[in-house]
Parts: sequence; structure tokens; C-alpha cells
Amino acid sequence: MKKVLKIGIPVFLVVSLALLAFPLSNNFAKRQIEEPLGGLPELKPVSIIMQNKCADCHIKGKTIYPFYKDFPFAKQLIDDDVKDASENMPFTREKLLGLQEFSRLELSKIHTVIESGEMPPGKYKLLHWDAGLTESDRKAFTDWIKAETESRKGQR
Ligand code: HEC
Repeated sequence: MKKVLKIGIPVFLVVSLALLAFPLSNNFAKRQIEEPLGGLPELKPVSIIMQNKCADCHIKGKTIYPFYKDFPFAKQLIDDDVKDASENMPFTREKLLGLQEFSRLELSKIHTVIESGEMPPGKYKLLHWDAGLTESDRKAFTDWIKAETESRKGQR
């Protein structure tokens, strides 16, 4: 019995870690992406990026849980992130589809996290290998924010 545990526990740990690092959720969960209905043309690519790469945390009810959510603590950690993100910086369907404007403050915060590479968070990228922003994603964000800022000049 003792020997079984001595070998069994390390094997179990290694297998668990390997499973955790494998971003299964990317492969299985294909999201339903909606095209923007309004807003500037520059919003379109950004909306699709956000629906793919930010929605898990920033839209309540859109989280696609990974299979390891049933591991001890995993679901709690994910839910804490989702609560934090979706309450502080909600990307609502109306905003993502161009039916309602992002506020200037929101635009400026989005600009900051895109520039700094803070979002999506590192731990999320570790488990979702295709969640990082590419050069062209970044450019789409900066083009969009610039266009929004231009279009609101003179407005209060
Ligand atoms: C793994 C979950 C997760 C993902 C994915 C994620 N975020 Fe966040 N985000 C958070 C959390 C948690 C916070 C609040 C705490 C913080 O600021 O670190 C946050 C905060 C923010 C803020 C507010 C920062 C501030 O200064 O108040 C912005 C803007 C933001 N996220 C943008 C994005 C964008 C854009 C994406 C996609 C490219 C994204 N996030 C993807 C979890 C996430």
C-alpha cells in the first residue's frame, strides 16, 4: 500500500499538472460570435477580438468554463475573476455590438491595458494559448480608439 502511494501520488500530480496546462477549452468551446450592428467601422474587428479574448471574464454569463473547473478551488478562482472583471469593466452586448458607446474613461482604460499588455492576464494566457493579443489585434484596438476619439471631438 505504502509503495503504491509513493508512486501513485507523484504520478497523479504530474498527470494533473499536464492536464491543467492543456488548454482544452480552446479546442472544444467554439464561441458564437455576433457581428456589430452599429458603431464605427473600426469597432468591428475589435468587437470580434473582445468576444473571443476578453468575454470569458468581462461579460457575465459568457464564461466558457474549462473542464478543470471541477478541481478544488478552480471554479472559485475563475468566478472571482469574472465577478471582478465584469463588475469593474463590463463589456456588455450593447457595447460590443455598437448599440451603445464605450465611455471615454472606458476607452482610456482599455487603451492603457492594451499598451501595457496587462490584459488578458498572464495566468489566463498560460491556459488559453491563443488568447494573447497579436500585433494586428493591438493595431485594431489603437485604430478603433483613435477613431472613437476623433469622432467625439467637439462633443462634451
Ligand atoms: C482571466 C480573466 C480576464 C480576461 C480574459 C480579461 N480580463 Fe480584463 N480584467 C480582469 C480582472 C480580474 C480585472 C479587474 C482587476 C484588475 O484590474 O486587474 C480586469 C480589468 C480590466 C480593465 C480595467 C483596468 C482598470 O484600470 O480598471 C480593462 C480595461 C480590461 N480588463 C480590459 C480587458 C481586455 C481588453 C481584455 C481582452 C483583450 C481582457 N480585459 C481580458 C480579468 C480578465
